Amino acid sequence: MSAVMERLLLIGVILAFISGTECDRKVTTSIKHGCYNNTEDACGSYGYIEAVGEQDTLHYLVSTLGLPTIFVAYTDKDVTAQVDLDKLLSPNVTERQDTVTFTPSSGVKYSYSMAFTKLIDYNDTKDKADMTQYSPSTTAYNVYDLGDFMWKNISVTSTPENNVIVFEAAPSNNYDDLWLSNGTFSIQLTAFSKSGREDNLPHLQYNENLTQFDLNIDHLYTNLSKSRFAVEIALIGDNAKQMHVDETRSIDDEYTPGVFTIYNWLTDEGDDKGFLQWKPVCYKSLQRSRAEATGMKHYGMRLSTDIDPYMNTLVYGYYGDNLINTMINVGNFSFGLSQDGGYNKTQVLTWSGSIGYGVPPADAISKLVIIIISAGLGLPVVLIIFGGIFVCIKKRNQPVEKPLRSIQGQGYQPLPEN
Ligand SMILES: *[C@@H]1O[C@H](CO)[C@@H](O)[C@H](O)[C@H]1NC(C)=O
Ligand SMILES: *[C@@H]1O[C@H](CO)[C@@H](O)[C@H](O)[C@H]1NC(C)=O
Ligand SMILES: *[C@@H]1O[C@H](CO)[C@@H](O)[C@H](O)[C@H]1NC(C)=O
Ligand SMILES: *[C@@H]1O[C@H](CO)[C@@H](O)[C@H](O)[C@H]1NC(C)=O
Ligand SMILES: *[C@@H]1O[C@H](CO)[C@@H](O)[C@H](O)[C@H]1NC(C)=O
Ligand SMILES: *[C@@H]1O[C@H](CO)[C@@H](O)[C@H](O)[C@H]1NC(C)=O
Ligand SMILES: *[C@@H]1O[C@H](CO)[C@@H](O)[C@H](O)[C@H]1NC(C)=O
Ligand SMILES: *[C@@H]1O[C@H](CO)[C@@H](O)[C@H](O)[C@H]1NC(C)=O
Ligand SMILES: *[C@@H]1O[C@H](CO)[C@@H](O)[C@H](O)[C@H]1NC(C)=O
Repeated sequence: MSAVMERLLLIGVILAFISGTECDRKVTTSIKHGCYNNTEDACGSYGYIEAVGEQDTLHYLVSTLGLPTIFVAYTDKDVTAQVDLDKLLSPNVTERQDTVTFTPSSGVKYSYSMAFTKLIDYNDTKDKADMTQYSPSTTAYNVYDLGDFMWKNISVTSTPENNVIVFEAAPSNNYDDLWLSNGTFSIQLTAFSKSGREDNLPHLQYNENLTQFDLNIDHLYTNLSKSRFAVEIALIGDNAKQMHVDETRSIDDEYTPGVFTIYNWLTDEGDDKGFLQWKPVCYKSLQRSRAEATGMKHYGMRLSTDIDPYMNTLVYGYYGDNLINTMINVGNFSFGLSQDGGYNKTQVLTWSGSIGYGVPPADAISKLVIIIISAGLGLPVVLIIFGGIFVCIKKRNQPVEKPLRSIQGQGYQPLPEN
C-alpha cells in the first residue's frame, strides 16, 4: 500500500515540476498578399505563424491557395522564411518552384504539410456511420474537391494579433447547391506560445510546438436525407519514411467525458516527426457540450502518389518536383455515430485536432485524479493507523482486573499444613 502511495506522490511531484518549467516560444502571426503580374484577378494571400524558441523556430505557412494547406518547417533559431507569392500565383508550373525558401536552407531540420483535400457527403441509408459499408454504386455520394472552393480573404476572417488564422469558404458557382442554406465551411487555426488546455470541449491539450485546428460545418446544404459528412486529409512528409496512426488509451476521461482514446497520425517513428492529433469526438452544435457530442471514424491513411492536388499550394512551392519523392498519405474522417440522428438533425458539425512537431501531448492522469486516488488509498491507511492507536490507548486505560481464576486453575496447589 505505501509503495503505491510513494509512486503516486512521485508522479504528482514530477507533474508539478513539468507544469512549472514550460519552455515557451514567442509566437507572431502575419498575413501577406501578392498578385501575379500585377493583375487583380490573380491575387492571393498566405498567413505566416512564427514560433521562436530558445534554440529553434517553428514556421507555419498557411494558405487556401490550391487547397487549405498548412506547411510546417522546424529550423534552427535564426532561419528566416521567404515566400515569393507573386511567382507562386503564376500559371506557369516551373515558375512556382522554389517560391518557398529558407535562409540558410541548411537550417531546415524537418518539414511536413497537412492539406484538407475533399469534403464528402454520403447517404448513410443503413445508419451505420461507417463509410466502408458503402461504395459509390451502393449509395449516393457528393464529393466536393476543396481545391475548387473559393475562399474569403484571410485578412477579413483572421485575427493575427491573437495568432488565429481562419480559412472560410465563400459561396461559389462551382458547388452552388452547398450554399443554398447560407451555410459556412471554415477551418480555424490557433497557435500557442505555451502549454495549456483548450477551454472548449474536447479540451485538447496544447503547447508551443503545435497549432490547433477547428473545423466547422454549419448549415451546408445537403440533398441526402440520411446525410453524413466526412473530410479527406493528406499528410505530406519530409522524406519517403512510412507514416502510421498511433492509438493511445487512457483510464482518465476527465477532460473529454466518455472519450478514452487519442489518435496520433505520425509522419515518422523517430524524434523528428510531425503529428496530427485528434480525439474521436465531434459536436453537433457550435456551442459544444457533452449532450451534443457524437463519435467519428477514420479510414485509409493510404499511400498516394498523386501530386496533382498540391501543384498550386505552398507545398509545391517548397518541394517542387521533389514532391514525388516524399511520403503522401491520405485518409478520410467521417463524422457521426449510428442512431445520433445524422447530419440533417442539427446541420452542424465541429471537430478539433492539432498539428505539430516532436512529441504529441499525452493525457497524463491529472493532479485532481491523483489527489482523489491518493485520498481513496490514503484514507483507509489513516483509518487503520488511527484506529490502531485508539484501540491501544483504550486498552491501556482499562483497569487491569486480577485474573483470579486462571491462578486458581493453575496446576497443583499444596494442601495447607495442619
Ligand atoms: C502581364 O500583364 C500585362 C498587362 O498588364 C500583359 O500584357 C502581359 O502579357 C502579362 N504577362 C504575363 C506573363 O501574363
Ligand atoms: C485581402 O485583403 C487585403 C486587405 O484588405 C488586401 O490588401 C488584399 O489585396 C486582399 N487579397 C485578396 C486576394 O483579395
Ligand atoms: C515557364 O517559365 C519558365 C521559366 O521562367 C520558362 O522557361 C518557360 O518558357 C515558361 N513556360 C511557359 C509555357 O510559359
Ligand atoms: C438516401 O437514403 C434514403 C433512405 O434510404 C432514401 O430514401 C433516399 O432516396 C436516398 N437519397 C438518395 C439521393 O439516394
Ligand atoms: C445532390 O447534390 C449534388 C451536389 O449539388 C448533385 O451533384 C447531385 O446530383 C444531387 N443528387 C440528387 C439525387 O439530386
Ligand atoms: C440566404 O441569404 C439571402 C441574402 O441574405 C436571403 O435572401 C435568403 O433568404 C437566405 N436563404 C436562406 C435559406 O436562409
Ligand atoms: C517543444 O519542442 C522543443 C524542441 O524540440 C522541446 O525541447 C520541448 O520540450 C517541446 N515542448 C513540449 C511541451 O513538448
Ligand atoms: C433536412 O431536414 C429539414 C428539416 O429540418 C427538411 O426540411 C429537409 O427536407 C431535410 N433534408 C433532406 C435532404 O432530407
Ligand atoms: C475518401 O472518400 C471518398 C468518397 O468515398 C473517396 O473518393 C476517397 O478515395 C476516400 N479517400 C481515401 C483516402 O480513402
